[in-house]
Amino acid sequence: MLYTIKKIGLMAVTATVMVVGGTAVSAAAGDSAYDLKKNEWPHAGPFGTFDKAALQRGLQVYKEVCSSCHSLKMVAFRNLTDLGYSVDEVKAFAAEYEFPAGLDDEGEVKYRKGLPQDYFPSPFGSEEEARESNNGALPPDFSLLGKSREHLSMFTPWNSIYGEDYIVGILTTYHEEAPHGVEMAEGMYFNEAFSGNQIAMAPPLFDELVEYADGTEATKEQMAKDVATFMYWAAEPKMEERKKMGLKVIIYMTLLTILLYFVNKRVWKRVKKGEDLV
Ligand code: HEC
Repeated sequence: MLYTIKKIGLMAVTATVMVVGGTAVSAAAGDSAYDLKKNEWPHAGPFGTFDKAALQRGLQVYKEVCSSCHSLKMVAFRNLTDLGYSVDEVKAFAAEYEFPAGLDDEGEVKYRKGLPQDYFPSPFGSEEEARESNNGALPPDFSLLGKSREHLSMFTPWNSIYGEDYIVGILTTYHEEAPHGVEMAEGMYFNEAFSGNQIAMAPPLFDELVEYADGTEATKEQMAKDVATFMYWAAEPKMEERKKMGLKVIIYMTLLTILLYFVNKRVWKRVKKGEDLV
């Protein structure tokens, strides 16, 4: 009894230390005083699947807007069949890009058309070049960004947002002017989602910036959600397979449990009845 009370006491102390310590650490790591919106995503939850139309629109936003600064190094054109495109459509998409292919007789760089096995080309030749064009900041690669960032809410930690909600947050919470009393560094923009609220990326989206191939109205919010869905897919293209596999495993384990229950009952039946075993 005494032992149990001691143990519970110790657990309570540990939990308190963890909560207080954790809050202090996350506050130091750049919590924000802003609460951001959580969106509904068709791909969320254990049975969620990607909205293919949103993925295709997101690709269009990436290609027409973001790809002038952000690379997408880990995605090859052939992966775009996941978005619902046929092999021929992917071939045509790849052929819109050009890749260096050695030198010609005059020593000039030759170019060839992109092929499905090529990866998305990077907009800048080097990190230095990328920083030079962006006020010293580096536009991060998109391959994993869709799942890797979070926005920690300082006063209401349960409202913290992650992944694709964070991307939408970045794209839709710019202020035209910084709040009163906030000193902005040269060339920086006030953003509610970004850690420290000063971001070197100028607001990249505004209403009607792209003309969607499927006729959807291209509001800023719509484009933000579409490109966030696309970035989430880029970061975890095998999500649907993972979820399907998880479901299969759960069904298998459930059947196995039922089977083992009956096996167990049968094996112990005679012992429980008190029958002689030999
Ligand atoms: C003109 C160049 C440029 C364009 C176009 C651009 N970005 Fe950026 N982006 C940047 C730079 C530079 C940064 C780094 C900002 C910083 O570190 O302060 C950035 C940062 C970001 C971040 C925050 C990453 C983090 O570290 O948390 C996201 C998200 C983002 N961009 C998404 C997009 C999306 C989506 C688009 C297209 C709709 C886009 N960007 C278009 C230059 C650009």
